[in-house]
Amino acid sequence: MNSFRVKPLDDIIATAEKHSLTRQLGAFQLTMLGIGAIIGTGIFVLTAEAAQKAGPGMMISFIIAGSVCALAALAYAELAAMVPVSGSAYTYTYAVMGEALAWMVGWALILEYAVSASAVAVGWSGYFNGLLQSMGLRLPEYLRVGFFSSGAFNLVAFAVSLLITALLVLGTTESARVNAFLVLLKVAALTVFVVVAVPAAKTANFTPFLPTGWGSPLSGSGLGVLGAAASIFFAYVGFDAVSTAAEETKNPNRNIPIGLIGSLIVCTVYYLLVGYGAIGADGAQPMMVNGHALQPGSPQMAAACQGVHNLVCSKEALSFVLRDLGFPSLGYMVALAASIALPSVILMMIYGQTRIFFTMSRDGLLPKRLSKVHPRFRTPHVITMITGAFVALFASQLSVGALADISNAGTLFAFAMVSLGVLILRYTQPDRHRPFRIPNALVWPICVGAVVGCVVLFMSLDIRTKLIFFAWAAVGLVIYALYGMRHSDMARKPR
Ligand code: ALA
Repeated sequence: MNSFRVKPLDDIIATAEKHSLTRQLGAFQLTMLGIGAIIGTGIFVLTAEAAQKAGPGMMISFIIAGSVCALAALAYAELAAMVPVSGSAYTYTYAVMGEALAWMVGWALILEYAVSASAVAVGWSGYFNGLLQSMGLRLPEYLRVGFFSSGAFNLVAFAVSLLITALLVLGTTESARVNAFLVLLKVAALTVFVVVAVPAAKTANFTPFLPTGWGSPLSGSGLGVLGAAASIFFAYVGFDAVSTAAEETKNPNRNIPIGLIGSLIVCTVYYLLVGYGAIGADGAQPMMVNGHALQPGSPQMAAACQGVHNLVCSKEALSFVLRDLGFPSLGYMVALAASIALPSVILMMIYGQTRIFFTMSRDGLLPKRLSKVHPRFRTPHVITMITGAFVALFASQLSVGALADISNAGTLFAFAMVSLGVLILRYTQPDRHRPFRIPNALVWPICVGAVVGCVVLFMSLDIRTKLIFFAWAAVGLVIYALYGMRHSDMARKPR
């Protein structure tokens, strides 16, 4: 059997047309979906972790991570406009680099989508538990954080994951409407933060600028500017979810590139302003012991943070800064907005995951019955419920930082494959119509830059995350050998 068999692009488009979902999303809705997927736990919660890893130098981390995403977004835009079907990086890889690699990309996308949905659910639970507490409803500690964060079961993260799953089973239009409202809310919260914090920035708070140095992709510590960039990359993840909605988009050739690039630009501008405001207004020097920065999320860090008032110790960085600036009620409102709005990110991530599974099962790499569409709601309900159950389980057990880093590893792999795919297709199918085309003179610098950027960021993750990624990849290969290789449509109908 040939695991390098590719699925011809014309076949991919034809299969999609046979089993299609309803086309109902436009450019504005797509951009909103993109922003809905992008702005979330990364900026609202992980800003403090990035500050612990890089100090004020995290501004550079935001720029590095955003630049890698911008390059990858251009590659995504070219492929998504050319092959406007569900499945994103998985589908593109199938058409360009063959089935085995496509399966591996699909398998890595589970980290990107399902695991990041869990990460956001956990990040959100921090804000929500804080609000519950302020209403006198404090849950016992063992129900506030998961087993791997020295608790037992994160009840709130578990419950919100299941609730969002139910919403997605009910239908896309309803979910897109709810999403648009939540996006506006969190953009409003960030705007309030920027308006208050940026004018309060003090130059002195930016010194020393690089307390932990640049970091090294080879050190395995995950600290320094590069380590922070590899983690804060999570804040940008999600723009590619727009491409997974391709089959439900009106005029995808125009609207997908607008949705992808538009949402990324809006978010990058916000992140730089928020990062500048947070550091400038409050300072962001890492907690150190013997000249070494502590690992965020470690027991040593938790101990060092006891009774210490420092942004890097905060679980709700933005509200923390606003309170410090003397605006406690604005801090409360931002916390409330984050609590109401972050579930939109969980929604987009589970949505993206189900559409990727849907496509993989339609191709026979996963059992066909998973792609059944509900007769009344017109949604892939079976796969949505299975995905939601796993997202809820992971969210109930793991910590936000660990989940975010694991998710980043899978995402970086997928981005690199998409960027490579653009280059390969320029040579194997130069004449195919490209509704969105990276200019010829720039295609090499952009795609090679994206691949190199992804590799450097991947290498800059801490060693534990990299090991988990490779273990995950090994499990994926075994499953492919035992199931997908034999059951895929391409195996049954060899050409
Ligand atoms: N970018 C998304 C977030 O920060 C995943 O929550």
